[in-house]
Amino acid sequence: MDRYCVFGNPIAHSKSPDIHAAFAAQTGQQLSYERRLAPLDGFAAAVQDFIAEGGKGANVTVPFKLEAVKVAQALTIRARAAGAVNTLHFTDEGIIGDNTDGAGLVADIVRNAGVPITGKRVLLLGAGGAARGVVLPILEYRPAQLVIANRTVATAEALVEQFAALGGEGVVSACGYAEIQGQYDIIINATSASLSAELPPVPASVFAPAALALDMMYGAQPTVFLQFAAQHGARLRDGLGMLVEQAAEAFSLWRGVQPETAAVLKALREQL
Ligand code: ATR
Repeated sequence: MDRYCVFGNPIAHSKSPDIHAAFAAQTGQQLSYERRLAPLDGFAAAVQDFIAEGGKGANVTVPFKLEAVKVAQALTIRARAAGAVNTLHFTDEGIIGDNTDGAGLVADIVRNAGVPITGKRVLLLGAGGAARGVVLPILEYRPAQLVIANRTVATAEALVEQFAALGGEGVVSACGYAEIQGQYDIIINATSASLSAELPPVPASVFAPAALALDMMYGAQPTVFLQFAAQHGARLRDGLGMLVEQAAEAFSLWRGVQPETAAVLKALREQL
């Protein structure tokens, strides 16, 4: 049976084994998928051990997504643009590093929420690893505008520079929270503020009528950002759909079969 796993530290909380087990059952694929706690200073060795045991692929989560870039022998365009790898594929040609997080986000927005990105005004809050990983997949949908707002404006400006040559010229721009102007159709919270129950200082005026507000975090209760967005009339989406969709993208890369995500997302939601 083909073996897959998710590497992280900590890893006990990961929902990935449940998601991939559900995909395998649904598509009739014979595979196993386990959690692997890699030592903080032993990620590369843990990957090699898993390959030696016959592993075919792996997901990578906190804190190893940057190190996984170095472990990979070849990177997909989107992994290189993201500067991070969340999916490894062990092939006869070597270790391929991919990043399915951004594809998961746009699939959740466009397919699950039914909100088009093309021609829309998109506001991305944050310019760290999570934000960087989704810029290219958003740009591929050709939004009218993608504004990246960050506390540290220089980090957002560096992203604008990086993505100008990748379809972002004239579309992507950077600013601080106090300089955000106008209304947006899609507002994505890619900051880590929700982890500490903080609200990025975004003006209440950013929500266009029927705007979609998406927080990459999820939990049993809406994040402070989603509560704020609800008060200003936005439709809400947390990060659970993105989690399931990035897994579906990895599954399809490994197995060549695209799983259905709706039932899996519903089951996970009920377990929160
Ligand atoms: P991640 O991998 O989750 O993206 P990161 O790379 O450390 O983590 O980036 C964290 C992001 O959240 C950054 O954009 C950070 O803003 P700064 O670059 O100015 O530090 C943002 N962030 C964290 N806490 C925040 C808060 N309370 N309000 C606004 N932004 C916050």
